[in-house]
Amino acid sequence: PLQSPGLMFRKALNFRYAVGAFNVNNMEMLQGIVEAARALRSPVILQVSAGARKYAGHDYLVKMVEAAATTDVPIALHLDHGADFEICKAAIDGGFNSVMIDGSHHGFEENIRLTRRVVDYADERGVFVEAELGQLAGVEDDVSAEHSVFTDPDQAVEFVHRTGCHSLAVAIGTSHGAYKFKGAARLDFERLSRIHTLMPGYPLVLHGASSVPAALIEEANRYGAKIEDAQGIPEEMLREATTMGVAKINIDTDLRLAAVMALRRAMAGNPAEFDPRKFFGPVRDAIREIVQHKMKNVLGSAGRA
Ligand code: G3H
Ligand code: 13P
Ligand code: ZN
Repeated sequence: PLQSPGLMFRKALNFRYAVGAFNVNNMEMLQGIVEAARALRSPVILQVSAGARKYAGHDYLVKMVEAAATTDVPIALHLDHGADFEICKAAIDGGFNSVMIDGSHHGFEENIRLTRRVVDYADERGVFVEAELGQLAGVEDDVSAEHSVFTDPDQAVEFVHRTGCHSLAVAIGTSHGAYKFKGAARLDFERLSRIHTLMPGYPLVLHGASSVPAALIEEANRYGAKIEDAQGIPEEMLREATTMGVAKINIDTDLRLAAVMALRRAMAGNPAEFDPRKFFGPVRDAIREIVQHKMKNVLGSAGRA
């Protein structure tokens, strides 16, 4: 059975670690994530974007997660960046135990109205709701923001109070994708700390939290990729965030990089091979490795299941 993120986050906040939320789009990557959680006794959130539902299909994803959730480590199934009430309702009705309503691109009042509507629907069904206030730079599914608008701490308190949302994604300088900073990496920890101080014990969420490991990029480029000037969130910054109320850390890009690196390496080394399992197997292994690294060295969630 699935476990509610609410329970996971309470423990995480008490012991100052974060639960990793990893995006899933196919079977091997999902299996790699769950194998890591199992091996390290870590809670984990499997999150599905609108794009993932379109790619793999809602039913396939839910059934695969159901198969994964027969294990004894806590697993949640979360909708990533739900754009409107309808997609959140579809996810809730279709077996997700957690949804994000992303009204961050709306004005404050409209974001509240939309979020409140999802919370009302979800609360009646025992489903967890994440909302977002503030905007990340870059591309956020269909939502794009030229410049990021950092979360205002006082507005965050009012937002949580008026919507009843169960966790809140905040904008403090992270962004989606592999190109997060032009110069030095910088997050607004003062702002994060202020939000946490105003709402101690309340779970905050960091989107756009991939670290874009240089070693992965180099390895991928060695096998034919052309990824340049990529930069992510330094791992020590993520560890610091886990001491300031951040209970959920979203990671998608790093898994994409690990998967494609592994695929390129396997293909380059076996030109005569045409059994796809010889290529997708190494992808699963690479995902397990990077997720284990995150759980142990970045999130601190290893051993907390
Ligand atoms: O926030 C975006 C996630 O990285 C999901 O990306 O919409 O391409 O599946 P996607
Ligand atoms: P990254 O692009 O940094 O992996 O962020 C993923 C994310 O926030 C998914 O919601
Ligand atoms: Zn996100």
